[in-house]
Amino acid sequence: MGAKRILVTGGSGKLGQLLVDRLVDQGHKLRLLTRKMEAAFEYTAIELFQGDLTDKESLKGIAKDIDVVLHLAALTHSNSAEHYNAVNAVGTRNLLESCREEPIGRFIFFGSRADNPQAGEYSLSKFRATHLVAESGLPYLILRPAEIYGIAGEGLAMVEKLLSAYPVIPVISSPAAHVAPVHVDDIVHATITAIVSEQALGRRFTLAGPQEYTLKQLSNLAKSTYGIRKLNIPIPITLLSLVAWLQRNSQSPIIYRDQVPRLLSPKDTDISDAQELLDYSPRSLEDNLDLVFPSLVGR
Ligand SMILES: NC(=O)c1ccc[n+]([C@@H]2O[C@H](COP(=O)([O-])OP(=O)(O)OC[C@H]3O[C@@H](n4cnc5c(N)ncnc54)[C@H](OP(=O)(O)O)[C@@H]3O)[C@@H](O)[C@H]2O)c1
Repeated sequence: MGAKRILVTGGSGKLGQLLVDRLVDQGHKLRLLTRKMEAAFEYTAIELFQGDLTDKESLKGIAKDIDVVLHLAALTHSNSAEHYNAVNAVGTRNLLESCREEPIGRFIFFGSRADNPQAGEYSLSKFRATHLVAESGLPYLILRPAEIYGIAGEGLAMVEKLLSAYPVIPVISSPAAHVAPVHVDDIVHATITAIVSEQALGRRFTLAGPQEYTLKQLSNLAKSTYGIRKLNIPIPITLLSLVAWLQRNSQSPIIYRDQVPRLLSPKDTDISDAQELLDYSPRSLEDNLDLVFPSLVGR
């Protein structure tokens, strides 16, 4: 692949940091949107651009001389519907407006597999942003990852905490609560392919793991793999919603309120387009369980 000039938003995030490392290794020239100019990046191939998605003026000129935009920046955990909307939907619109002033080659948006308007405020904001991207008139493609594992503090950290924190294991009992965990390297590989794949333009790609699990199945898999002999205690959704509501003003709740409907909402599992056009072949969760539950390894 020839070197490209790539604008990355969200480069300081959990997925963004890894992606930035890989893109620099491949010889691309990066410009990173950052809210804090003191952000430390040791690479000379990186130019920092100070701005905030919620401040339209601050994004002026951000896409000058850029071939590809990778828009990862987002508010991912909050108890505020307004904040989700301001960063994820309005912020994406602000960025698209700046990008439309330049002849960029493609705008790659990190949406969500749960971009469903009924699945809570984060999902609603991703749903709105997805439509803004698709209607922007820019050459675009949309990546819709499931729960990513293999990056610190991400994805299934809540399940890991519940497996070790108590003498019994609280397990969300609803069979509708399911996840399709995906290894971070599979997301990075699909993204790097998305930068060049011509046929991928104008398409949406679900990037889920190879299999869906209910939370009970996931918990039982961890129990048998790591020899955890504790009883599962079923937690009804009403109780989970109550816990989320009681913690609505906490800075680090066990669960955010909008995660409950997101967990329960039906989600797309069809990865066939990504397999065909993004060389996507997600690896098995069972073979990588140590990355999902690092604190349970060797206990
Ligand atoms: N991780 C997953 O399991 C998962 C699953 C599905 C989809 N996704 C999507 O993938 C993307 C990356 O996820 P992640 O887990 O790496 O997210 P993350 O760790 O929460 O990082 C969010 C990034 O967005 C930036 N950001 C937040 N508000 C901003 C604003 N107002 N202006 C500019 N930048 C702002 C943050 O910058 P600061 O350093 O300044 O805070 C940070 O770099 C997101 O779009 C997310 O929705 C992730």
